[in-house]
Amino acid sequence: MTFMELARNRYSERYFSSRPVEEEKLAQILEAGRIAPTGCNYQPQRIYVIRSREAMEKAISTKASLYGCPLALLVCYDKETVWKNPGDRNYEAYNCGEQDASSVAASMMFEAEELGVHSLWIRGFDSRDVIEAFDLPAAHVLVLMLALGYPSDKSHPAHLHGKRKAMEETVKFI
Ligand SMILES: Cc1cc2nc3c(=O)[nH]c(=O)nc-3n(C[C@H](O)[C@H](O)[C@H](O)COP(=O)(O)O)c2cc1C
Repeated sequence: MTFMELARNRYSERYFSSRPVEEEKLAQILEAGRIAPTGCNYQPQRIYVIRSREAMEKAISTKASLYGCPLALLVCYDKETVWKNPGDRNYEAYNCGEQDASSVAASMMFEAEELGVHSLWIRGFDSRDVIEAFDLPAAHVLVLMLALGYPSDKSHPAHLHGKRKAMEETVKFI
């Protein structure tokens, strides 16, 4: 499968089955995140793997919508490690953490897809609830959760999946 086929096939999974993700596949997904590019290569990503029943119960208790996934990753960045750009006059000290975490998460999401593991990028949660539930270190900024797992027989793309703006609405040659 080419990358474009993979990118077109992927959709946000909201109907996970309970089938666990194999250890080797999880390792490969995490490896894709490890080798992802980050600002100045500082690699500030910090990833928490939610897989045990106890951890999943905690995640569910935060009311984040996880759609029954058997595995989720909390993708954070360490604000003491992240690259800051002092040269951007629009920001006092621009911090690349959200970009770094997103770069890592996107690599993991597409690697999962390649392995037949579906995913859902989640930001619709109150990060304070999650930080408190898992007692995350104060320096670790939670950016997103990546839900992972296999599709159930109800799985299908949501209607938004098919809705993308025309190229000229988002791209301008200047
Ligand atoms: C930054 C970001 C935040 C998102 N947060 C959520 C979320 O909290 N809950 C959810 O169900 N989907 C979430 N999504 C998934 C988007 O809704 C989805 O990617 C979009 O509607 C396009 O659909 P598709 O992924 O099926 O192509 C998020 C995606 C991104 C990139």
